[in-house]
Amino acid sequence: MANENDLPPKVNLREKFATFSERWSPRIVGELNGQHVKLAKLEGEFVWHHHEHEDELFLVVAGRLRLLMRQGEDVREVVLDEGEFVIVPRGIEHCPVADEEVYLLMFEPAGTLNTGNVRNEFTVTEPRRA
Ligand code: NI
Repeated sequence: MANENDLPPKVNLREKFATFSERWSPRIVGELNGQHVKLAKLEGEFVWHHHEHEDELFLVVAGRLRLLMRQGEDVREVVLDEGEFVIVPRGIEHCPVADEEVYLLMFEPAGTLNTGNVRNEFTVTEPRRA
């Protein structure tokens, strides 16, 4: 029988979000099957980008996120309120916009770069753990 200390710890999202304040700076809070569970605080507009090989899940924990997606000239906005998520398929250009602060949970393959095919001041190459 497994020692109690071997059992996985639970994760409290509120406590994890309280450990950092930077915007657009994802924190790794879990890992399974080669995927990372990440938290981020967002405010303002991010950068348009896509991911060549990764699908990304965006789940809003608090606030309201406007997720812009475009294919060619066709731009669509999906508004995510607390408790709602969307999965952005690989290859789709997207740009998160947070008019007010948003607490976000993301689920995506480990190593997924937050700015995808773009490198700029938003790029975080090695997200910290929270
Ligand atoms: Ni992305």
